[in-house]
Parts: sequence; structure tokens; C-alpha cells
Amino acid sequence: MKKSLYILIGTAILSFWLQSCSPDDPPAPEEGPTQLSLEIPDNWPKPNLLAENQLTVEGVALGRKLFYDKMLSGNGTQACADCHNQGAGFTDVQKKFSTGSEGLVGTRNAMPLFNLNWSHGYFWDGRQPTLESLIQEPMEAHNEMNLEIETAVTRLQDDPEYPALFQKAFPGQGITTTTLRFAIAQFLRTIISGGDTKWDQYFAANRLNPEKLMTAQEARGYLAFISEEKGDCFHCHNPLSPLLNNTSDREFANNGLDAQPDSGRIKATGNPNDLGKFKTPSLRNLSFTGPYMHDGRFETLDQVLEHYNSGFKYSATIDAVLIKHADKDNNYAPIPRLTQQDKDDIIAFLKLLDDETMLTNPKWSKP
Ligand code: HEC
Ligand code: HEC
Repeated sequence: MKKSLYILIGTAILSFWLQSCSPDDPPAPEEGPTQLSLEIPDNWPKPNLLAENQLTVEGVALGRKLFYDKMLSGNGTQACADCHNQGAGFTDVQKKFSTGSEGLVGTRNAMPLFNLNWSHGYFWDGRQPTLESLIQEPMEAHNEMNLEIETAVTRLQDDPEYPALFQKAFPGQGITTTTLRFAIAQFLRTIISGGDTKWDQYFAANRLNPEKLMTAQEARGYLAFISEEKGDCFHCHNPLSPLLNNTSDREFANNGLDAQPDSGRIKATGNPNDLGKFKTPSLRNLSFTGPYMHDGRFETLDQVLEHYNSGFKYSATIDAVLIKHADKDNNYAPIPRLTQQDKDDIIAFLKLLDDETMLTNPKWSKP
């Protein structure tokens, strides 16, 4: 009886003491990282995030530092940012193919990195399902950074700064191949471009007829882009999505670059119908991201337009949209449909999608 009374009084005193001192307590030293919510422009579709890799302020800051760190290449001479340069829309500056840290040249054009949360497959052939899974490839490729990811982990563990930064971002998990990949992916996921370009302003103000707000030339270009008789671009590049990315049924397509395609998405799926199909890229920021296509074969947008006009080549998997503009009786040779004026107009429209602020936004620059 007496004993239980003591316990009761003791508990009351303890709880009073806990209550009275808690408001002034400093925060516990091991508080978790701070959740970060993405700034997504109004009316954009939902991003594809990875539930296991919730974005945090600390994780993104760590990923940013890693993205710019040459320590992640075998010989310490190359960072992700060397091929994905902010000033060039996070692509390689005017290079057809990039050179890796050991001087070996690659076989694909470096892709711009923005709005990656809205893709369903990464790399030109979509062989990687998530950003988190992708990172090991460029790090380890001999013609890229040439560093085994396990070696990268050991290097980071031995570094004077990184262990504390990983502890803040991923408390109790340490530096592992997973936390390394997750941190970089978190940073990539924050690079979002658009919302305030001229195109976005016109589209937000008049979704049905954005051309009413454009100059005469831009409006002609937009109408040619969405006309089946002229550009006929919209079946693959979706002007109804504010992202101006691919249409959902043609996220990967064969746009007639080669008469005998020998790769493309077939490498990822093994499906013969995917031969010569590549990821349909975003048409945002084209002024900064040339040269164009998976092999960087076109230096100018005029060359790109001429390809769709008179240059595309027939192959078994070429998209039906292009076949419409080919002459069946003449081995599917293209039937040109665009004048020089049409091409110039379409290019004037595409330039409405340039977002100069992305190139200098301090959130994504070298920390
Ligand atoms: C030597 C140049 C080079 C380096 C260094 C490099 N990349 Fe790349 N990146 C490329 C090329 C080339 C491609 C296209 C590869 C392909 O399709 O096979 C690419 C594609 C990508 C993509 C796919 C984008 C999309 O829309 O599908 C992402 C993401 C990416 N890189 C992130 C990174 C990260 C993160 C690092 C650092 C760990 C890195 N890259 C280092 C050249 C490079
Ligand atoms: C059949 C689908 C399809 C049609 C129609 C189409 N495109 Fe494409 N576009 C693609 C694909 C797929 C790629 C990437 C191909 C590759 O690199 O192998 C691409 C690439 C591009 C690129 C290069 C972007 C970069 O970052 O390298 C531009 C610019 C472009 N298209 C503009 C247009 C315009 C303008 C039209 C209309 C005249 C058009 N496209 C019609 C599917 C299409």
C-alpha cells in the first residue's frame, strides 16, 4: 500500500518535472533530417517519386555536393557535373559525345537533366527504371567516371567531411552504396525547369488557344507544330502536357533516324518492336542543349526540322506518324511538307520553352 503510494507520488513529480522543463529544452541532438517538398509549377502532373527515398533538405544538399565532386571518378578528374553542366541545361557543352575521366569517348549524347521526376525510364533506351538505380552506371563506366561504387563508398568513409554529412542526411545508416545513390538522386529530383517561361505563361493564361497571346510568327509555329499536315509533332511531343514532354503512348519512339537501326530500346526490353526506339526528349531548353538526338547527329534545330521534313528513313519499326508523310510507291521516301518559313516558325515557337533561369539558379550550382 505504502509502496504504491510512493510510486504514485514519484510518478506525479516526475511527470510534473518533465512537463515543466520540456518547453525550454534544446532540440535533441539526433533529430531526423528535415522533409523537403518539391516546388512544382501549378497544374503539372504528379511526380514519380520513390517512396523509400523521401527528399530531405540534408539529403539534397549532400547529393548536390556529390554531384559536383571529382572524387567520385577513378582518377579524381571528373564529376557528374562535368558532363552535365548547369550552364548548358545540365548537358555536355556542345559535344556530340562526352569524354570520360580516362580520355575514353562515349557513344551517346549526354542527356539534359531536368524534370526527371516525370520519366518512366532513364537513359536514351530507358534501361534504368529509377534515378536511384541509374547512378552506379555513369560512376563505374570506363568511358565515364571509371570508379567502382564500393571504392567510392570507402573513399567517402575516409573523407574528413562526408561521414558527418551522411549522418545528418541518413541518420544511423552510414555511407553505403544505397545512401550514396539515394543522395545524388534526391538532388537530381529537385532540378525542375519551367513554370515561368513564355510558353508556360501563355499556356496558363489560355490553355485552349495559347497562340492568341504569341507573336504572329510564334503562333504560326505553334499551329504548324500541332497540325497534321505541317509539323505533325504533337503525337510524340505533347503540347497538352504543361511539361511539353512525351505523349504517354510514345515515351519511346522510332523517329526515323536510321534505315537499319541496330539498337535503341530493344537493348532494354529484348522486344523486336523496340528496335530503333529511343526516349522522346523534352522540348524544353533546346537553345542550350544541342547537339540533338541520342547520337548528337544534328547541330542545329533547322537540321532537326529538315530531318522530319525530308530526311527520315524507313525501317520496320518507324512510327506510323512519319509513314503518313512518306511515299509508299517510292520506298517510303519522305514527302516534304515544310517550307523554310514553316521551319523558322516552329523554331520560334520552340524557343518560347527556353528557361534561362535554370542555367544560373543558385539552388543547383556548385556548392
Ligand atoms: C562522361 C560523361 C558523363 C558523366 C561523367 C556522367 N554522365 Fe550522365 N549521361 C551521360 C550520357 C552520355 C548519358 C546518356 C547515356 C545513355 O543513354 O546510354 C547520360 C545520361 C544520364 C541520365 C539520364 C537522363 C534521362 O533523361 O534519362 C542521368 C539521370 C544522368 N546521366 C546522371 C548522371 C549522374 C548522377 C552522374 C554522376 C554520378 C553522371 N550522369 C555522370 C554522360 C555522363
Ligand atoms: C514519332 C514520334 C515523333 C515525332 C512525330 C516527332 N518527334 Fe521529335 N523526337 C522523337 C524521338 C523518339 C526523339 C529522340 C530520337 C533519338 O535521339 O533517337 C526526338 C527528338 C527530337 C528533338 C531533339 C531533342 C534533343 O534533346 O536531342 C527535337 C528538337 C525534336 N524531336 C523536335 C520535333 C519536332 C519539331 C517535330 C515535328 C516536326 C518532331 N520532333 C516530331 C519523337 C518524335
